[in-house]
Amino acid sequence: LSHLFFTYQGIPYPVTMCTSETFQALDAFEARSDDIVLASYPKCGSNWILHIVSELIFSISKKKYECPEFPVLECGDPEKYQRMKQFPSPRILTTHLHYDKLPQSILKNKVKILVLFRNPKDTAVSFFHFHNDVPDIPSYASWDEFFRQFIKGQVSWGSYFDFAVNWNKHIDDENVKFILYEDLKENLAVGIKQMAEFFGFSLMDEQIQTISAQSTFQAMREKSEETHGAIGPFLFRKGEVGDWKTLFSETQNQEMDGKFKECLAGTSLGEKLKY
Ligand code: PPS
Repeated sequence: LSHLFFTYQGIPYPVTMCTSETFQALDAFEARSDDIVLASYPKCGSNWILHIVSELIFSISKKKYECPEFPVLECGDPEKYQRMKQFPSPRILTTHLHYDKLPQSILKNKVKILVLFRNPKDTAVSFFHFHNDVPDIPSYASWDEFFRQFIKGQVSWGSYFDFAVNWNKHIDDENVKFILYEDLKENLAVGIKQMAEFFGFSLMDEQIQTISAQSTFQAMREKSEETHGAIGPFLFRKGEVGDWKTLFSETQNQEMDGKFKECLAGTSLGEKLKY
């Protein structure tokens, strides 16, 4: 599938979603200090936290959060950043970029960045299903083929491990907060409370509980066609921890463990990720 990627500054991106013109325009993007950045590697649950943070904003402002643009910052046409100047604050910017590929204005303005991680095995399985289940996007010949490309980083947005190593350098930055998919699954209300605190939104426990009930996998899947159109049910596929066991062979399991150790052993993120 290599013809479906174009490489920009060393990272493969899907030709259907990203262009070099948009990346060039993104360099001049003017971030505001009250923007909200949600960063994650693909398939780690970005639509989940986008929903949660939108609900947090709704709870405090009573205004539904509307983003007329495709929410991923680096996708779309190059004029989108001009149009985004008109959007009211706070703007939510989701991204799959590495920290050091973000536009300078995000870093200079010390914009708050929530970084969502998910263990690489479930992430890979989710990514594979997305390619192979969704009509109209390219499929892989087999899981084994996808696994090989994932390990090499020859998939959309590049290597999970490079993304993790890059972001891990910023795990203790004041304006950066890491959260884990697996922790959200374990206790959603606690995770939502932590997000609210990080962004400085003061909410009552009751409001947290309401958002929590609206943000379960079941609740989001039920509404997925309404919220995300025909692609919805594919985006909200299974929502579980440990689904990797359905596809990984023992050899692949060991290879992924090896790669994980090689890249992340001894790092704060390496200690935190659970699978
Ligand atoms: S994408 O295409 O990169 O934007 O996908 P992304 O939204 O980042 O990740 C999709 C996976 O997140 C799961 N998901 C959830 N899990 C648990 N609870 C909730 N509420 C939830 N919402 C989304 C979604 O099901 C995808 O994972 P898989 O394993 O494929 O089900």
